[in-house]
Amino acid sequence: MIPAMILFLLLLSAEAKTLQSDIDVLRAISLSIDPISITQYSFLNTWDFDLDPCDSTGADFLGILCTLPQDDNSTTQITAIDLEGDGYEGFLTPAIENLTALTTLNLKRNQFRGPIPPAIARLGNLTSLLLSGNFFSGSIPNVGTLKKLANLDLSQNLLSGQIPTSISGLRRLTHLDLSNNEFVGIIPELSGLWQLNTLDLSSNQLMGNFPDLPQNLRALSLSHNLLSGRISSIQRIGNLERVDLSDNRLSGNIDPEIFTLPFLKYLNVSANRFTSVEVNKFADDSSQLQVLDMHENRLQGNLPLNLFTYSNLTSLNLGHNVFSGRIPEVYGDMIGNPWKTLFLDYNFLEGNLPSRFTSTFNVRGSLARNCLNCPRRLEICRGGQRRAAECAKQ
Ligand SMILES: *[C@@H]1O[C@H](CO)[C@@H](O)[C@H](O)[C@H]1NC(C)=O
Ligand SMILES: *[C@@H]1O[C@H](CO)[C@@H](O)[C@H](O)[C@H]1NC(C)=O
Ligand SMILES: *[C@@H]1O[C@H](CO)[C@@H](O)[C@H](O)[C@H]1NC(C)=O
Ligand SMILES: *[C@@H]1O[C@H](CO)[C@@H](O)[C@H](O)[C@H]1NC(C)=O
Ligand SMILES: *[C@@H]1O[C@H](CO)[C@@H](O)[C@H](O)[C@H]1NC(C)=O
Repeated sequence: MIPAMILFLLLLSAEAKTLQSDIDVLRAISLSIDPISITQYSFLNTWDFDLDPCDSTGADFLGILCTLPQDDNSTTQITAIDLEGDGYEGFLTPAIENLTALTTLNLKRNQFRGPIPPAIARLGNLTSLLLSGNFFSGSIPNVGTLKKLANLDLSQNLLSGQIPTSISGLRRLTHLDLSNNEFVGIIPELSGLWQLNTLDLSSNQLMGNFPDLPQNLRALSLSHNLLSGRISSIQRIGNLERVDLSDNRLSGNIDPEIFTLPFLKYLNVSANRFTSVEVNKFADDSSQLQVLDMHENRLQGNLPLNLFTYSNLTSLNLGHNVFSGRIPEVYGDMIGNPWKTLFLDYNFLEGNLPSRFTSTFNVRGSLARNCLNCPRRLEICRGGQRRAAECAKQ
């Protein structure tokens, strides 16, 4: 998997001796995996307990790393276990608690089931705990003791219950991914995680208000939850590049500050209950915003005129709202270049199209189901307009 790992094992002196309690844990790990899932070419098939794990050559005990012995007589310990994508079925043994020097546990993309053993809380040297893509169930054990943890990825499992508040104390976290589980309740306080740059809590059943976010966050996904209320104080998070809040119950005004974030490239607030949006002119003409998706809300009023100052915007979706009035003439200057995708369908827009819309241009999108005077020969007008009665009611 990682050639450096093999090299590392080869470099170990012939005198290395693995701590007996570490060997016992490796044995417990291999015994807790269903033998039928250990294929001929998998790492576990190279674990030969007649040999010393840390003293074996590159071909044996694949998937582990050891500390370098201090001197000829000292023992070594296991520092990393990486069995990613090897197809194992089974349980994670509580015996794991005895690997006191372990810094990385990577069991991603296997078929482990059952609980994450609470004993994991004793692995105070762990920096990476990567268990995504398994069938782990039950709640997250108390991980507040794992003070060195930088990367916690428990995504794509069957974990449930609340996200433990002890996560708030993991000050070294840079990457937290709990997406695609069955977590409920509110999001614990995370604003103290000042090193966190990726936060993904998407596809759970989290509720409550928009959380206070840590200041150095770059990527945020809270999509497919039950969050409600307004977006608050997001402008403080000046490094944000990707924000996905889609499919929640967020409402009110879409905070105009969000559009002034200097590094923001992707913003998706679709499928919420927002009622208004205000886009201020982008001050210094260097907005990075490329994708803006606000479809399926309750946005009303005129289309945001100032979007034409966002020179990197290629994909815009304002469909399925209640926008009214005319399509601003300046939108005509953007269509085709830079705008490659433009969806304004299912609104109550009216009147003629901006003159540039009627010439040939290369854009994917739709103006269907409005109250527009939309020439049928235009691809973007396919799907027809609303009936006059519907338009009159608006
Ligand atoms: C290692 O052990 C041997 C015999 O037990 C001893 O003679 C030697 O001094 C030890 N070496 C170190 C570096 O401790
Ligand atoms: C950890 O090691 C101790 C001492 O060897 C042993 O008594 C204990 O049962 C081990 N823990 C587990 C969960 O196996
Ligand atoms: C971390 O590992 C070292 C050995 O490398 C060990 O002495 C220490 O007890 C471990 N710390 C914890 C909290 O387990
Ligand atoms: C925005 O989010 C919705 C719902 O999660 C998704 O279907 C859509 O593809 C996203 N839009 C873009 C442009 O990525
Ligand atoms: C955004 O636009 C500016 C000026 O139009 C340009 O210099 C910059 O490279 C663009 N950034 C991206 C990411 O495309």
